[in-house]
Amino acid sequence: MTTPSNHWPSDFVGRIREQFPQTADDFIQALDFQARVSVRLNKQKYRSAPNLAPVPWANQACFLDERPVFALDPLWHAGAYYVQEASSMFLEQAFNQVNVEGPKMVLDLCAAPGGKSTHLNSLIQDDDLLVSNEVIRSRVPILIENLTKWGHSNFVVSNSDAKQFGELGALFDVLVIDAPCSGEGLFRRDPEAANEWSPENAKLCSVRQRRILAESWPALKQGGYLIYSTCTFNPAENEENLDWLRSQGGFESVRIPLQDEWNIDELEHNGIYGYRFLPHKVKGEGFFISVLKKTEETTAVRFPKKFKTRLQRPASLPNGWIQTTENKIFFQHNDQLKFIPAAWEREILLLFEKLNLVKGGTHFGTLKKKDILPEHELAMLNERVSEAFELLELTQEDALKYLARDNFQLQLSGKNWQLAAFAGTPLGFVKNLGTRFNNYYPKEWRLRMQDRGNSGLWYRR
Ligand SMILES: C[S@@+](CC[C@H](N)C(=O)[O-])C[C@H]1O[C@@H](n2cnc3c(N)ncnc32)[C@H](O)[C@@H]1O
Repeated sequence: MTTPSNHWPSDFVGRIREQFPQTADDFIQALDFQARVSVRLNKQKYRSAPNLAPVPWANQACFLDERPVFALDPLWHAGAYYVQEASSMFLEQAFNQVNVEGPKMVLDLCAAPGGKSTHLNSLIQDDDLLVSNEVIRSRVPILIENLTKWGHSNFVVSNSDAKQFGELGALFDVLVIDAPCSGEGLFRRDPEAANEWSPENAKLCSVRQRRILAESWPALKQGGYLIYSTCTFNPAENEENLDWLRSQGGFESVRIPLQDEWNIDELEHNGIYGYRFLPHKVKGEGFFISVLKKTEETTAVRFPKKFKTRLQRPASLPNGWIQTTENKIFFQHNDQLKFIPAAWEREILLLFEKLNLVKGGTHFGTLKKKDILPEHELAMLNERVSEAFELLELTQEDALKYLARDNFQLQLSGKNWQLAAFAGTPLGFVKNLGTRFNNYYPKEWRLRMQDRGNSGLWYRR
């Protein structure tokens, strides 16, 4: 869809002309063209590299020739890739500048629906911990769904305010703030976004961003990194906000090495470097990102001698469901069996007590009488669970029926719990009852699309 350029708000066009006097016409014209569709792959689930143009600044991402109906691709539901516009994937280059010794704790403060969080989960090491936070309660379920499907177990999800993080003290090595903004960079994807734009709204965004920055800043350790991004071009929401942050604390700006052919715009504002993705120069959406290294001294978090929360150890564990057990702490909460990464027990308990932690561990099984039912989170793990469960390979048509929880027949033999799979990637559990089977795909995630005609798979060409 295109919107004639004279439909953009005149105050916005005026500011763009001031901000980019040489290239404003190209800039504004480019807003009438859609950005290219791109996906970021989960290498642990999607194994063969597609023969498509790579996103140059991200290791596992490519541009698609057109937008398929992703909902009709079982691999999309399985967390084998995440549909994300390319500019945001530059987070990877920003994250590459992080130079911290030992296991890291990373906070993604404004995380829903999870584009940056799933990316961060791929970028961090297995012994790091990602705290993915979303303050708006109604946006938390999609964040949990996307992270769960992405298949790592070294993340927790919270629903807290920036201030609650600041009050913890300096706990984090990396703080990612992908701030709510006036969204100018999204005008070409969603021309409606332009209707919501006004100078007053942009000003409100800037004030809110300063509050988020100031309140969460104490949560970052000395020597830690702030990665700040928005999807707007407005200096008042970008470099000027970071300049203002100097009044709150000490930092140095970190430059990100660029390649000319990326066409990314580096700006420098009072010693702060920022990276802009302009619509007439890149295939992705409009985006801004900057990296700051905290230099001021901070007070380390004081952990309580005793936590109020106790992790009740389960009486027994199911055999062979989880391959590596040494690095995990298993616990039981009511009838739920869960685990957390053992190395982060203290930190996770602290978050349980101080924040609204809505997902603090991997729920892999549920006790039912004398049985343990495997949970969907177990099916989604990148750690292979297929040694304990046979894979039941489905056709695309049956896979979609499975994902929709339709009534349909399958030829089943073998063990009673099996992992329904597509292209070798698990979709979820089925239980073989002899003449029929039970579908354990989560009801709340089920595919609701009725019309499933013409469902091409973009990677099979
Ligand atoms: C740009 S979006 C985040 C997109 C996400 N990082 C991703 O890559 O998928 C900004 C997020 O900030 C959240 N938000 C809104 N108001 C906020 C506030 N006052 N403090 C923190 N986050 C806020 C929004 O709910 C939204 O999820």
